[in-house]
Amino acid sequence: MSVTQQQVLDALSKVMSPRGVALPHANVLSAITVTDGKVFFSVNVDAAEARAWENVRAQAETAVRAIPGVTVAMIALTAERKPGSATPPPVPKPHSHSHGHAGGVQPVASHRPPQGGQNPMSKQAEIAGIAAIIAVASGKGGVGKSTTALNLALGLRDQGLRVGLLDADIYGPSVPRLTGIHEKPQLNAERKMIPITRFGLSIMSIGFLVEEDTAMIWRGPMVMSAITQMLRDVAWGTLDVLVVDMPPGTGDAQLTLAQNVPLKGAIIISTPQDLSLIDARRGLAMFKKVNVPVLGIVENMSYFQCPHCGTRSDIFGHGGARHEAEKLGVPFLGEIPLHMSIRATSDAGTPVVDSEPDGPHAAIYRAIGAKVREQLQGVIAAA
Ligand SMILES: Nc1ncnc2c1ncn2[C@@H]1O[C@H](COP(=O)(O)OP(=O)(O)OP(=O)(O)O)[C@@H](O)[C@H]1O
Ligand SMILES: [Mg+2]
Repeated sequence: MSVTQQQVLDALSKVMSPRGVALPHANVLSAITVTDGKVFFSVNVDAAEARAWENVRAQAETAVRAIPGVTVAMIALTAERKPGSATPPPVPKPHSHSHGHAGGVQPVASHRPPQGGQNPMSKQAEIAGIAAIIAVASGKGGVGKSTTALNLALGLRDQGLRVGLLDADIYGPSVPRLTGIHEKPQLNAERKMIPITRFGLSIMSIGFLVEEDTAMIWRGPMVMSAITQMLRDVAWGTLDVLVVDMPPGTGDAQLTLAQNVPLKGAIIISTPQDLSLIDARRGLAMFKKVNVPVLGIVENMSYFQCPHCGTRSDIFGHGGARHEAEKLGVPFLGEIPLHMSIRATSDAGTPVVDSEPDGPHAAIYRAIGAKVREQLQGVIAAA
């Protein structure tokens, strides 16, 4: 049975808004995306009104999920902040729901409460059952972030930890390919998505929900909302570590994400090239800005290792990341060679740490995992 937009609107017409009219008439809804039983849209309100709308968002979600045939409903509450103002305006201007994006759109959760206040939607809302959430990030794309995130998760698994992997790269989720997972998550009795278990990891990706060739168009605020919901509407169970594969770059979306996910630390992946190091520095600066400790830098594609004779060639002028880490006073976690079998196993959905556990690459990822674990000792032990 295919769900239609009209069905969604009908369901929403039973949800009252704080404006005294039904939700579809409150002039706050984004376009509604319905793909194969999955419904995505956002509710855009003024920052100052946001609290009053949180409940409405939840009701809307419940109403949409009750439509027969709906498997996933992700509804974002987004609040607009006037460009240039550091805090939400105290008094909302009536009818100010312009959709201008001049730096003013912020998800609700990023709005700081007045001094000392406890904002229930702030990033401080940790996720029950997860001891530590860590981000794997890079300043630029294509440096091997996803490959490293998955193999590092497996390295942590080999430390005897309970580990999850969240693919937060909603623009280009690669975890389905890297893990070979092509099934859809089921819902549990509380209608939370059950992560897919593979290689002893609990794994979730937006790529499990949409067809590979479905172009997902995400407006800025929806990015955050989709990711927070993948964090909070997933039955993760008890985990020592949840590794988050971040979208590439250090733009607004990444900053907001870093700010809103209760991160215990971040790991920056860099290649040895200078350009990438500059990007890595941007990544460091981003996490600093949001007070997330950087657990260290990993140099990926650090040197070329010949698949035939094993000879090592430092084709990129290796060692840059280690040097950079020293200069910046950030731990250096390790170097991963550029090697055919890392690429081949990634493409085959059989990550190298799992498929060649006795090989040299698995040992490298496990050593990185051990260093990361060491740094999280207090946090994990406390769980
Ligand atoms: N150490 C390595 N040796 C050989 N190939 C690698 C290595 N690390 C990553 N790759 C390959 O490089 C490509 C990019 O890697 P990956 O997808 O992990 O990067 P990414 O930073 O997540 O990219 P994106 O920015 O697109 O998300 C993949 O084909 C992957 O198999
Ligand atoms: Mg990636």
